[in-house]
Amino acid sequence: MQNDTVINITSLKKIYDNGFKALNGVNLEISRGEIFALLGPNGAGKTTLISIVCGIVRPTSGTVVIGGYDNIQQYRQARTLVGLVPQELSTDAFETVWDTVSFSRGLFGKPAKPQYIEDLLKRLSLWDKKGEQIRYLSGGMKRRVMMAKALSHEPEILFLDEPTAGVDVELRKSMWAQVRSLRETGITIILTTHYIEEAQEMADRVGIINNGDLILTEDKNTLMRTMGKRKMIFILREELTAIPTGLSSYPLTLEKDENGGKLILTYDAESENDISDVLDNLKSNGIRPKDIYSHQSSLEEIFIKLVGTK
Ligand SMILES: Nc1ncnc2c1ncn2[C@@H]1O[C@H](COP(=O)(O)OP(=O)(O)OP(=O)(O)O)[C@@H](O)[C@H]1O
Ligand SMILES: [Mg+2]
Repeated sequence: MQNDTVINITSLKKIYDNGFKALNGVNLEISRGEIFALLGPNGAGKTTLISIVCGIVRPTSGTVVIGGYDNIQQYRQARTLVGLVPQELSTDAFETVWDTVSFSRGLFGKPAKPQYIEDLLKRLSLWDKKGEQIRYLSGGMKRRVMMAKALSHEPEILFLDEPTAGVDVELRKSMWAQVRSLRETGITIILTTHYIEEAQEMADRVGIINNGDLILTEDKNTLMRTMGKRKMIFILREELTAIPTGLSSYPLTLEKDENGGKLILTYDAESENDISDVLDNLKSNGIRPKDIYSHQSSLEEIFIKLVGTK
């Protein structure tokens, strides 16, 4: 185990009581301070994996070591290091924000530390709601209260299981900002999401899980560079009937635009050619583009290629 590893998951398997195989032997290391996004379709095993790491579900076999503590043999020490915001939100409607967050801290046997709770509520933009009963808060605020509860005992690692499911775009963006600001305090963050854009936006590293197998873990930028494709798209001034023979050695394809004119020339930018060469050759073959733009495939396109579904 490397020094900066905070979670080490080895050969983790889960077969539920009804015989369903939810995890088929997952290996994963999480580094201190990273934001790791676990992506996968419904039923892939994301919640199962998180629940096992947090000690809520027992694995069939395999081990989870958190900060050096085995999460079964040394449950208490391991559990203290993690905070979890579960997929299904549940809050005590009649409690105030302050009380519910303080109470959560107490559950971990930690002595009261009002200054920490105050800073936490301020950081999550909940300070002005500290005396409010939870039932009077908006959905977005309730989620932030769940985050405050999960962080109340000063864990080193925060798990967010679908933090923004069913949340509107604006609120989602503000959640992302909150999560980033938490990371700046040194917390390691592991989140699951259906929103590929969310992983693309936030994660340092991405894991893709499908049918209980972690099929890939990769640095996000590396993933997008190696699996993604880049294209140059030329919008032509005049229609072409075919690609001129002088350009036949280039990876060019001619496509129709929405009006049916053969005006879109696409160049696969992964090939070896220098783009300025291509431009020179287009010109010498009498082709002068009206417009040029580049297209980089998104994490979503890569995900669909790997998993075959959204
Ligand atoms: N208690 C259980 N008993 C039997 N099967 C279960 C149980 N909990 C989950 N499963 C099954 O295990 C598989 C993985 O479920 P899990 O909740 O981990 O998926 P998920 O990736 O979190 O999905 P979602 O994106 O819908 O939240 C699913 O097929 C689910 O039906
Ligand atoms: Mg889930």
